[in-house]
Amino acid sequence: MAARREHFGGRSAAILALAGSAIGLGNIWRFPYMVGQTGGAAFIIIYLASCLLLSLPIFLAEAIIGHRTHAGTFGAMERLAPGMKWKWLGLLTVLSPLVILSYYSVVGGWSIGYLWQSLTAGFHLDEIGAVSSAFGRFVAEPWVPLLFHTLFLGGCAWIVSAGVKSGIERFNKITMPLLFLLIVMIMVYSLTLPGARAGVEYLLKPDFSKITPSAVAAAMGQSFFSLSLGVGTILTYASYIRRDENILVTGLGTVGFDLLFALIAGFAIMPAVFAAGIEPGAGPGLIFETLPYIFAKMGASAPWLSGLVAVLFFVTIVFAAFTSAISMYEVGVAYLVEQRGLSRHKATVLIFLGCWILGALCSLSFGPLSGTHIFGLTIFNFCDRLTSNFLMTFGGLLFVIFVGWKMDKTAVRDEFTCGGTARFNTAVFGAFWFLLRYLAPLAILIIFITNFLA
Ligand code: PHE
Repeated sequence: MAARREHFGGRSAAILALAGSAIGLGNIWRFPYMVGQTGGAAFIIIYLASCLLLSLPIFLAEAIIGHRTHAGTFGAMERLAPGMKWKWLGLLTVLSPLVILSYYSVVGGWSIGYLWQSLTAGFHLDEIGAVSSAFGRFVAEPWVPLLFHTLFLGGCAWIVSAGVKSGIERFNKITMPLLFLLIVMIMVYSLTLPGARAGVEYLLKPDFSKITPSAVAAAMGQSFFSLSLGVGTILTYASYIRRDENILVTGLGTVGFDLLFALIAGFAIMPAVFAAGIEPGAGPGLIFETLPYIFAKMGASAPWLSGLVAVLFFVTIVFAAFTSAISMYEVGVAYLVEQRGLSRHKATVLIFLGCWILGALCSLSFGPLSGTHIFGLTIFNFCDRLTSNFLMTFGGLLFVIFVGWKMDKTAVRDEFTCGGTARFNTAVFGAFWFLLRYLAPLAILIIFITNFLA
């Protein structure tokens, strides 16, 4: 079985794939807003610290399991801890990314819809000078969002079914550099708008009084989501990294790219938001209401340029969402291929069907199913809350406990230090071990409790 497994071509391919998973909607619709709301540069410092001290060790814990076993989540657990107990973690981390994928695909579908609109009709202000009601109408109408959800998920299926190397690796290799190029272009444009300065100040002005315990928990939670932790995606991608590769370098590269992209996205979005004279917000509203409003407003004076920027922006969002979604998709496919003996093609189709149905329910929860509630939440919000607030943190906690307390320390050290050959890794192993065993579980518990109380 292991001999037939595919591998990423090399270090850059592995980092691009992992960065592709990490860089997604989380960087574009949540990070910039959180920075502005929670103390600007002060938040960035806290965020950086939580990336390095908390999320990187968790990332490495997942990567160590995948890299050690060269198996997907379930198989990895089976190999390292025979018996049923830990297999539940394997199973949980097969299911949770598929739940995320289902609603993520709905949002990915909206992005394709908005890309289509920016290519065709463009965005225009209505009689009351707003475009936001258009978003409400768009998502409530059952058929068109379903069509775009199908297109998005179908696109993912197409890439994933082509395989790890010719599908996932190739797609990320083309898309990731393009994403950086696009977001930098948008940033340059945005920074030259009159009134852009206020957006820069919003992001950079340090306000340490806003650094409360809940802001710290929010920073940790955001770095967790942004680095795709706790749901087996990092584990699965790491299982495709070659034996002799340095996991710490891969981890640092991924964290670095993810952070860089989030910051550039902030400087691409916030200056434009302030230049248009509106209040920034987070979530779907930022991308599908605020940005179209800005494009519509700019369109009045410079239609060509604003049309072009709108297209570039939605291309960026669609592709950022794709590279993340395929990483979730691959977790399920790896399970079905390795544990259930299905062909990659069949596995892809099966995941497509399952996620399409759940995604369709999420999509319809903005329209015909808006009255259906689970624990007081619509289906879409329930799936979102369940995964980002609970399943991700819970999975992360178990991974950390597994590597820090259950796995053989010699094996962990061996993985971390490339069999003792990497000198820097050997020097910092003690710090990693401490962060993994004590700080990470404690911090995840704090995030978990904060989410619970929220
Ligand atoms: N990290 C992705 C983002 O920022 C989301 C994601 C979560 C991807 C979990 C894979 C797994 O949008």
